[in-house]
Amino acid sequence: MAKKNILIVPGDGIGQEVTAVGKKVLDKIAEKFGHEFVYDEALIGHAAIEATGNPLPEESLTKMKASDAVLFGAVGHPKYDNDPTAKVRPEQGLLKMRKELGLYANLRPIKLFDELLEASSIKPEILRGADILFFRELTGDIYFGEKGRNEENTYAYDIAGYHRYEVERITRKAFEAARTRRRKVMSVDKANVLENSRLWRETVLEVAKDYPDVELEHQFVDAAAMLLIKDPKRFDVVVTGNLFGDILTDEASQIAGSMGMLASASVGDSTGVYEPIHGSAHDITGKGVANPMASVLSAALLLDISFGMKEESEAIIAAVDAVLKAGFRTGDIADANTPKNMILGTDAIGEEILKRI
Ligand code: IPM
Ligand code: MN
Repeated sequence: MAKKNILIVPGDGIGQEVTAVGKKVLDKIAEKFGHEFVYDEALIGHAAIEATGNPLPEESLTKMKASDAVLFGAVGHPKYDNDPTAKVRPEQGLLKMRKELGLYANLRPIKLFDELLEASSIKPEILRGADILFFRELTGDIYFGEKGRNEENTYAYDIAGYHRYEVERITRKAFEAARTRRRKVMSVDKANVLENSRLWRETVLEVAKDYPDVELEHQFVDAAAMLLIKDPKRFDVVVTGNLFGDILTDEASQIAGSMGMLASASVGDSTGVYEPIHGSAHDITGKGVANPMASVLSAALLLDISFGMKEESEAIIAAVDAVLKAGFRTGDIADANTPKNMILGTDAIGEEILKRI
């Protein structure tokens, strides 16, 4: 029996719809296992800009810091994607949250539920058994370096850089995790071209000396992108920078069948933030068809990592698995053989999950 404060930060687009299901699942867990979860909500992204003019209002940040964990949805709005000159943008809220909370490690587990082998565009025999854990560095790199334009407005730049301590702390996390898995770490960089990648590699090699029991492999990011599709089973733990990690994990989501299945945990100095890797998906917002499983699985990560509730976390994963085994699908993970009546909307598949917890 534990009492915990959970902050729900739905953000934009389908973020609202999927975190609502994630929250219901947390409620169900509290009821089943006799915990007391106290919820509050906070604004971020476009929703926050509309309400306050600020993509991450001070009030939201204060609430985040005071909570035991954050269940986050997504940010973004097409309005800004089509207006590159907009000075205030929803994504700034997300980046500021990561920086202010010191969330330097983004864990993105890529695990394929057996039932979804056919949902992927990759051949089942290549996929079967793939199980990858990405450690994406989240508070450095080109995302947070100096950026700007020249006076004539004919040139723009974004500086990509890493401090040794930033590489060291994420690398340690990756090696520690590898010890609980197959003891393999792949570090992904572009050390044949980039100076900051050479510092990255040097640092990883240094850290690796403390983990002689873990096998280390280096890959350039272009080769890693190719290998992910060619032979996903050769990957165990991957550690990489912010931008490479962003791109590679979208690619890797296809190993799990759909972006709609992938959860992530962002951890570091203070409160952990749990979120789907998918975005706000305005093309399907408000239609009630979004796959809530990434948010539900994010809730499972939250319980496991922030609260140490392993059994509770596994109960959620088992319920998702059971729903898939029963044949229920959302549109994104349905295939040509899925009967129409088994394709459910966000809330309906959420109910199926709740029933099985
Ligand atoms: C992600 C997203 C964000 C990122 C965007 C929305 C800023 O793509 O969490 O992967 O690039 O980190
Ligand atoms: Mn991304």
